[in-house]
Amino acid sequence: MSVEPDPQVVAGLDAWEQLTAAQQPQWPDAESLRAARGRLASLPPLVFAGEADALRAQLAAAGRGEAFLLQGGDCAETFAEATADNIRNKVKTILQMAVVLTYGASLPVVKMGRMAGQYAKPRSSDSETRDDVTLPAFRGDIINDHAFTPEARTPDPQRLLEAYHTSASTLNLIRAFTTGGFASLLRVHEWNRGFTTNPAYKRYDEIAAEIDRAIRFMAACGADFDALRTVDFFASHEGLLLDYERPLTRIDSRTGLPYDCSAHFLWIGERTRQLDGAHVDYFSRVHNPIGVKLGPTTSGDDALALIDRLNPTGEPGRLTFITRMGASQVRDRLPALVEKVTADGRPVTWVCDPMHGNGITSATGYKTRRFSDVMDEVAGFFEVHRALGTVPGGLHIELTGDDVTEVLGGSAEIDDEGLARRYETLVDPRLNHQQSLEMAFQVVELLRAA
Ligand code: PEP
Ligand code: CO
Repeated sequence: MSVEPDPQVVAGLDAWEQLTAAQQPQWPDAESLRAARGRLASLPPLVFAGEADALRAQLAAAGRGEAFLLQGGDCAETFAEATADNIRNKVKTILQMAVVLTYGASLPVVKMGRMAGQYAKPRSSDSETRDDVTLPAFRGDIINDHAFTPEARTPDPQRLLEAYHTSASTLNLIRAFTTGGFASLLRVHEWNRGFTTNPAYKRYDEIAAEIDRAIRFMAACGADFDALRTVDFFASHEGLLLDYERPLTRIDSRTGLPYDCSAHFLWIGERTRQLDGAHVDYFSRVHNPIGVKLGPTTSGDDALALIDRLNPTGEPGRLTFITRMGASQVRDRLPALVEKVTADGRPVTWVCDPMHGNGITSATGYKTRRFSDVMDEVAGFFEVHRALGTVPGGLHIELTGDDVTEVLGGSAEIDDEGLARRYETLVDPRLNHQQSLEMAFQVVELLRAA
């Protein structure tokens, strides 16, 4: 039986149109935008409400310390890079990290990609100037093209449809990989053994040996490895472009409630979390689990006001706070925030984004981050939660499965000159495959200490 939605709930889904929506493009042609939105509204949902509900329960567990969220992927996906190899390598990296965390720290890991929809980017400026030429800023493949020409930079609503179809094919491959045997525990474990035989990673030998023993022990106990061939893998992106999110919102026939069916989990970015803005209003009305990024200027009162708007009844797993303070500020800024929210009593899941507060420009002119700063922010996040008796519930990171050279440091010691070797990102620098695995081993150390 299907439940009819409340007409007022449906009407409320358009309330954001009357509010200020930060970081939206200037579409040049209202008619083609209307047509693209209409087409999106008629296409099948990319995910189902029941899957979003299952994720909400898992995020609630992460909030209680009974699971750990691992959310990772590109800063910005691109249409050109939505290839089988690329998607496989990212999924593989996340699965490898998840096995290290699961068996190293004895904690179920909630696996989530910044994938299958991470196409819209907030920018610090609406325009970009090179020499004497000023053009609209690149806002992600869902809006315009990165090439620096007037044609490429003009927002094009047809891109909404290309984003949808590229997300659909990405999700299709992810679902095939995570149910078809590619993700089997024994396979992933075998890949990890390849990593730890490298002498550069000697430091992790002990944890690697323990993971190996844990998995052998399972085998000796007759574990059903066939059942471990399938893993849940969730899709997420920043809910930035409301002309995309609104048409992909659907009424769940079981409950009559709206869900944004472009992804299981959507987060509101640091630049669009204004309490009276369009994004907070919109995501207050859909029933997916929702995240909000919190930078170093966030006050305890801001956090409470966000809870009032996004999770007034305190439903566990509904709201994740993704803090991104920077290594130099996390130990000073995070405690007051966590204390205030904890005193309120409504549960949130605390997740650390150690990427976006640690940007620097290298001597050679690249936008980069230091692996040591990234790990220092993660360590600070664990220290703060340990001191307050609260739960470090997960990690949100920018990574790729490839061997790029975008983040400085790590055991492979990428230096200023090394960045040029393979710097491919169009927006923020990502951990490469090896750096991602190193992070997983170091987080096991932190989880064990906690
Ligand atoms: C991002 O996650 O790519 C991003 C832009 O983050 P933030 O909103 O935290 O700056
Ligand atoms: Co980014």
